[in-house]
Formats: sequence, C-alpha cells, structure tokens
Amino acid sequence: MAISVVLLLLSVQWSWAQEDPLLPFSEHLDPEHNVQLKWGFDEIQGTILFELTVNTSGWVGFGFSPKGGMTGADIVIGGVRPEGNYFTDRHAGGNSMPVIDQKQNYKLVSLNESNKKTVMKFLRSIEACDENDLTITNLPMKLIYAYGQTDDITYHSTQRGTKEVNLLKYMPRVNPPNSKYFDMTMVNFTVPTNQTHYHCKIMKAPKFDRKQHIYRIEPVITNFDLVHHLLLYRCPPTVTEPLEGECYTSFRTNQCMETIAVWGVGGAAFELPELAGLPIGGNVGDFLYRLEVHYNNANKTAGRVDNSGLRFHYTSELRQHDAAVLGTGLVVASGYAIPPKAKSFLTYGLCDTAYISQVLEAPQDLQVFSVMLHTHLAGRKVRVGHFRGGKQIDFLAVDENYDFEYQDVTNLGKTKTVKLGDKLLVECTYNTENRTALTWGGLSTSDEMCLAFLFYYPAMNLSGCMSFPNITTLRSEMGTPVLNNWLSMMSMKSWNDTSINQYQQTLKRIDQLVVIADSFKNISRNTGLIPNLSVIPSAPCMSGCDTRSLASLSLLLCLAVQFMQKYY
Ligand SMILES: *[C@@H]1O[C@H](CO)[C@@H](O)[C@H](O)[C@H]1NC(C)=O
Ligand SMILES: *[C@@H]1O[C@H](CO)[C@@H](O)[C@H](O)[C@H]1NC(C)=O
Ligand SMILES: *[C@@H]1O[C@H](CO)[C@@H](O)[C@H](O)[C@H]1NC(C)=O
Ligand SMILES: *[C@@H]1O[C@H](CO)[C@@H](O)[C@H](O)[C@H]1NC(C)=O
Ligand SMILES: *[C@@H]1O[C@H](CO)[C@@H](O)[C@H](O)[C@H]1NC(C)=O
Ligand SMILES: *[C@@H]1O[C@H](CO)[C@@H](O)[C@H](O)[C@H]1NC(C)=O
Ligand SMILES: *[C@@H]1O[C@H](CO)[C@@H](O)[C@H](O)[C@H]1NC(C)=O
Ligand SMILES: *[C@@H]1O[C@H](CO)[C@@H](O)[C@H](O)[C@H]1NC(C)=O
Ligand SMILES: *[C@@H]1O[C@H](CO)[C@@H](O)[C@H](O)[C@H]1NC(C)=O
Ligand SMILES: *[C@@H]1O[C@H](CO)[C@@H](O)[C@H](O)[C@H]1NC(C)=O
Ligand SMILES: *[C@@H]1O[C@H](CO)[C@@H](O)[C@H](O)[C@H]1NC(C)=O
Repeated sequence: MAISVVLLLLSVQWSWAQEDPLLPFSEHLDPEHNVQLKWGFDEIQGTILFELTVNTSGWVGFGFSPKGGMTGADIVIGGVRPEGNYFTDRHAGGNSMPVIDQKQNYKLVSLNESNKKTVMKFLRSIEACDENDLTITNLPMKLIYAYGQTDDITYHSTQRGTKEVNLLKYMPRVNPPNSKYFDMTMVNFTVPTNQTHYHCKIMKAPKFDRKQHIYRIEPVITNFDLVHHLLLYRCPPTVTEPLEGECYTSFRTNQCMETIAVWGVGGAAFELPELAGLPIGGNVGDFLYRLEVHYNNANKTAGRVDNSGLRFHYTSELRQHDAAVLGTGLVVASGYAIPPKAKSFLTYGLCDTAYISQVLEAPQDLQVFSVMLHTHLAGRKVRVGHFRGGKQIDFLAVDENYDFEYQDVTNLGKTKTVKLGDKLLVECTYNTENRTALTWGGLSTSDEMCLAFLFYYPAMNLSGCMSFPNITTLRSEMGTPVLNNWLSMMSMKSWNDTSINQYQQTLKRIDQLVVIADSFKNISRNTGLIPNLSVIPSAPCMSGCDTRSLASLSLLLCLAVQFMQKYY
C-alpha cells in the first residue's frame, strides 16, 4: 500500500511537463513524432531560439520555405561526427543540395547525439540578416525538416516534410485527460437598440469539491457582428449575489475588477502552458465572476438575442503550478486627465514588488508567461519596462501598435522571472489630437486606462500592483493647489505642445502613491518615483562571417570554419 502510494506520487511528478523557460513552445513536425521542435523567442532582443530533436544519429536539417518545397528555402544542417560537430546556414535554389550561405547567421548553442537521437539547439535573429535568410513573421510559416540515417548529407535515404506553424503567435492545443468544460455566457440577452451597450452579468462558476485547473479559455460568440469584446473579472469575496444589467451603472459591478480573461474582435482561444493552470474549486474559494460584453449594434437593430461568453476547459489532472493574473499599471481613477490636442501623451504606472511582502505572508518570484495590455480608445502604444537594482534590465512586453479593436492575451515567447524587489513600469502613449475636451482616467471607453495584466505562476493572493501620481503634489506643482481651481484650470487651458509637454513631465517627475492590493482588498501604500525607460539595444544578426568587416580576426576564424565545413 505504502509503496503504491509512493509510486503514484512519483508518477504524478514525472507526468509534469518540464519546461525550459527559454523554450516554452513545442510541436512535432512529422506525424510519426520523430522530429520535435521546441522554440522560444525574445522580441525585445529580436532573437529566436530553437531546439530540434530528431530520432537519428545522422544529419538533421531544418528551415523555412516560402512555399513548402526546397526552392528559396532558408536551411540549417547539422550533425555529430566522431571527430566533432558540423552546423551550417544554407539556402536552396531548387531541389538540389542547399548551398552554404556567405554569411552564417545562425548561431549553434549545442549539438548532442546519444541513443540514436540528435539534439541541435541554435539561435537566430527574427529578422533576416541577408538575402539568403527568410524573416520570421507573426503569421503561419512553412517549416521544413529533413534528416538522414548517416552523416553523409548527400545520401539518398532522406526523410523530409513540411508543417505550417505560427512561431511568434503560437497557441498550444493540448488534450489532457479528464478534460471537461463549462460556459459563462449571457443567456437570451436581447441586445438594446443603442449603438454601444456594455452589458454585465455577475454569476457563479460551477462548484467543484476538488480543485481543478482551467487550461484553455475559448470565446463562445453567437453574434460576431454585434459582440465587440468581452472580459471576465473575478469578484472579491464581499460580492456574494448574482446581478445582471448595464455595466458601470451600479456600485456593485464596479467592485469586480480582477481581470481573468479577455476576448476581442479578431481574437482566438488562449491556452496556458502545460505546467500551469488557473485554479478553480476546492479550497480556492467560491468567487463570483463578472462577464462584461461590449455590444456594438451599429444598425441599432431591435430584437437581436445574444448568448456570447467564454468557455473554460478544465482538467482534474492538476498541473505543477497554479497560475494567476496580476494587474499592473496606473490606478484607474479620475485624479488625472490627458489633455486634448496631444499627438503623443505619456502616462506611467509603477509596480514595486518589494512591497508585496507588506500584504502577503510568503511571497514568491513571479514567472510571467503571458500578458494582456489594456488602454481605451486613445491608446497607441504600451511598453512594460522591467527594473532590477535601480537599472532597467528588459522590457517585459512592448506593443508599438496598440489597437483597442484587437486586444488579446499574448504569450511572451519565453517565461520571464520578475524577482521580488523588481519594479515594473507600464508606459502608455495616447493620441488625443482630435479631442476637444480632457480625457479622464476611468472605466468608460471614452475614459482612459493604462494597464498590463500579467499571467504568472505560482499564484499568489494578489490582485493589483499599481501607482497613481500624488494629486496634492500635482495640483500645487501646477500652481492650483485647490481642487476646484485645478479642475477649471485644466479644462479652460488652451493646451498647446509646450504646455502639454510641461504637464506630462510634471506628472512623471512628482512622487507617486504606490499601492499593492491582495485578493481580499488589503492594501499597502508606499511612495515611489517613475524611473526612466531606456532603449534596450537589440542584437539580431549576431553571428556569422560578415565579409564587409574585412581584416577582423573573427572574420578570418569564421571563414576558416566555413572553409573546413565546405571541404571537409
Ligand atoms: C522518437 O524518440 C522519442 C523520444 O526518445 C520517442 O518517444 C519516440 O517514440 C521515437 N519515435 C519513434 C517513431 O521511434
Ligand atoms: C550537449 O552539448 C553541450 C555542448 O555542446 C554540453 O554542454 C551538454 O552537456 C550536452 N548535453 C547532453 C545532454 O549531453
Ligand atoms: C432561450 O431561448 C430559447 C429559444 O427561444 C429557449 O428555447 C430557451 O429555453 C431560452 N433559455 C432560457 C434560459 O430562457
Ligand atoms: C439606450 O437607448 C434608449 C432608447 O433609445 C435610451 O432611453 C437609453 O438612454 C439609451 N441608453 C444609453 C446608455 O445610451
Ligand atoms: C447594417 O446595415 C447595412 C445596410 O443595410 C448592412 O450592409 C450591414 O451588414 C448591417 N450591419 C450589421 C452589423 O448588421
Ligand atoms: C488581509 O485581510 C484578511 C481578511 O480581511 C485578514 O485576515 C489578514 O490579516 C489581512 N492581512 C494583512 C497582511 O493585513
Ligand atoms: C484626426 O482627424 C484627422 C482628420 O479627420 C484624421 O486624418 C486623423 O487620422 C485623426 N487622428 C486620429 C488619431 O484619429
Ligand atoms: C489564498 O487565500 C486562501 C484563503 O485565505 C488560502 O486558502 C490560500 O492558501 C491562499 N493562496 C495562496 C497561494 O497563498
Ligand atoms: C502627497 O504629497 C503631499 C505633499 O505634497 C504629502 O503631504 C502627502 O502625504 C502625499 N500623499 C500621499 C498619499 O503620499
Ligand atoms: C502655449 O500656451 C501657453 C499658455 O498656456 C503660452 O504661454 C505659450 O505661449 C503657448 N505656446 C505656443 C507655442 O503657442
Ligand atoms: C530621468 O531622466 C531625467 C533627465 O534625462 C533626469 O532629470 C531624472 O532625474 C531621471 N529620473 C530618474 C528617476 O532617474
């Protein structure tokens, strides 16, 4: 009995996916599962990392093809010979032996062979570095592979194939055992004839005796021409009664603000990585959830009935970690406003994780795998800077072309660790050039927000990590310490580029109120300053022999290696 329990525990442990934080995605390229590709990327650095595992002790090849065949393909070939490794960046003109590129733009990380299995790990830039390489786009691309039984690359017995994969916008699709789903949707809701309507429904999720893991969230849209976007928020334990009605008209709908899921026009399903799930049921607690659907009834058609919402796929086979969502950025409140006529106006929200320990007993580092950036209609860009020890070490996420119409949860490309003590700065850029009045921070779509929702594990009982400029300081810095004077100054002012810029700099310079809220609404209050964001230099085209940098030692070495590879 004792032994079988131990075995059971061990087998549970072994069934956990072991994820390399740098290689979160995985696909078999062939139906027989002899060729496995793992990858991860860093859009800030502009690089993508691959690990190709093939059941062979011969050569292995992988590449990108415009049409799926050899013609025009960008290929790497590698393998292990008794004397050592070989690895080359090549291109194919047609159905012939791919020729070695002048510039070697793939960098070999490691190449191993054991038990008839070859593992080749290599890095390249997302952009093409020369005319013989293909740029990796965020659309599905045709990946090609081939391998031989020996290290003689010309040998005829070659297995090859093609698979189309969207490497940069990848969403896994797993089918775990004991998988079921439940829906949280509107039920026979008659869409009003108003052009814009935000409908809210606070409801219970099904009850589970044991904890379950949600691993996939899928939109269920019954009227694609009416549903613009929808959000699901978790309510605090103080909200205990269901409610349905127009959003933001009653205090109770405003209480449930912990975003759990989102779908927007053009979006698809979201799936968590295999080592984490959103917990529900058991001792996690019986929360209520608020579904918010933005209806856009452009033709003001009467009598349209809608049942849209979200489908939650869950499994009782618990994953290694509970995942959760943390809201970071600028507190949603009306204490500041964006002036009209601004082509580019910046706001900032600071999350200082050093203070998490003020609300939680034993906080842990956050392993962040996905992010959802959120502003309203005036938002144009969102960047999330990552600081450690007073220095910016990375951007957690960047969207230089933010579009309210196409909001989605996006995978980061690799799992990024936010250590306790790190700071995250959410910067939003707005355009209000066609507006004539102030745009206040607030909940309505014509108000603004500046938020980044981080999907992370292991889950903590944490709901928000945000900041807000000290409005007492702001008003006095602007020469109008009294609230009403400040309000009339703000709305009467004839804003021009100079005054907009001054105001923006003041907002950034002054002290900020830095708050952290746990899931039970305990709040820690501290102060902080907005750090400066810097440009992180991307280092694509890192390796290879650039024949233009004549006379460098590395060029000579590189050419020597190529020579040996070519004529070996
Ligand atoms: C290829 O290797 C993997 C891992 O060793 C193994 O699980 C799989 O069954 C092999 N595939 C075939 C077709 O032999
Ligand atoms: C694979 O090769 C690298 C060096 O190329 C080496 O550091 C690593 O230990 C090897 N891994 C295995 C599993 O053999
Ligand atoms: C929704 O409407 C359909 C069709 O009219 C009806 O069959 C169904 O019972 C309704 N559901 C609820 C919960 O009222
Ligand atoms: C929706 O339309 C109705 C009827 O035209 C109107 O009475 C109501 O105020 C509108 N609601 C909103 C939020 O505009
Ligand atoms: C609105 O009406 C126009 C013209 O009748 C039609 O082309 C369009 O498809 C309708 N749009 C929706 C969302 O129903
Ligand atoms: C947080 O709130 C809960 C419930 O209100 C309370 O029991 C707990 O002591 C609070 N924790 C801290 C650190 O203030
Ligand atoms: C502002 O209006 C002008 C003229 O209608 C238009 O070209 C421009 O795209 C608008 N800008 C924004 C940000 O909507
Ligand atoms: C969150 O709070 C609940 C209720 O107090 C508790 O049961 C649970 O263990 C906490 N979760 C974590 C990860 O601390
Ligand atoms: C805001 O700044 C004022 C001084 O300008 C200070 O007295 C006040 O305590 C600050 N408020 C917060 C919430 O830190
Ligand atoms: C901008 O407005 C301020 C007053 O708010 C005024 O003093 C300044 O001259 C204006 N600058 C320009 C370039 O119009
Ligand atoms: C940001 O940079 C400005 C000037 O470039 C400097 O005056 C300011 O002190 C910096 N802020 C911080 C928080 O380092």
